[in-house]
Amino acid sequence: MGKINGEWLFATNFLKHPVMLGSIIPSSRRLIRTLLAPVDWERARYFVEYGPGVGTITRQILQRMHPDARLLALEINQDFVRYLQSAIDDPRLVVRGDSASDLGAVLDELQWPRIDYAVSGIPFSTMDPADVTAVLDETRGRLSPEGEFLVYQFSKRSGEYLRGHFEDIRREFVLWNMPPASCYRARSSEQGGEIKPAEGGSATGNPG
Ligand SMILES: C[S@@+](CC[C@H](N)C(=O)[O-])C[C@H]1O[C@@H](n2cnc3c(N)ncnc32)[C@H](O)[C@@H]1O
Repeated sequence: MGKINGEWLFATNFLKHPVMLGSIIPSSRRLIRTLLAPVDWERARYFVEYGPGVGTITRQILQRMHPDARLLALEINQDFVRYLQSAIDDPRLVVRGDSASDLGAVLDELQWPRIDYAVSGIPFSTMDPADVTAVLDETRGRLSPEGEFLVYQFSKRSGEYLRGHFEDIRREFVLWNMPPASCYRARSSEQGGEIKPAEGGSATGNPG
């Protein structure tokens, strides 16, 4: 399984599950750079990623995160779960074949105290609204006071979902991706501190 080309696996899975994947190719470097720009790599210890696919963003997080940090990846496509488990050999990574909406149960099982960053590429616009609400409830409930929810989406409607759960939302549009996407960073107003603008980015307060 480890020898399978990740991009090929992603494309063939798109033909089987176009709605679940939302894109025929993994995220671009530009999108990943924008999405991860807000992360305080020195401070953060607990990361979760929803919908890692073949690990395009996962690898970038692992490359940058602290040696003591940990990353939990939740993916419902079992082909991708098997691929990730065999292709990425890093003791800091836990890959689980669970839905993002099961975050709380998985964190309790792993005995993680909190999450510092949740990173998501799951397609809110094509999911059952009740599932999206469950994901957002779980995420908000488990984020640390300084934590942020970093999300990329292909549909503008996704901003409305975020607005219903988080008070402080920034959006940056990334044209250089297939398809073009909006990167959001969201946090609750109960959390302290100023939100800092993304490196080299043009963050706006418009959650559109
Ligand atoms: C657009 S792809 C993103 C793949 C990868 N993150 C990237 O950027 O290239 C969306 C992924 O989310 C997964 N997914 C969809 N719904 C999910 C859910 N409820 N929980 C976890 N993963 C989910 C799909 O199987 C797919 O791998």
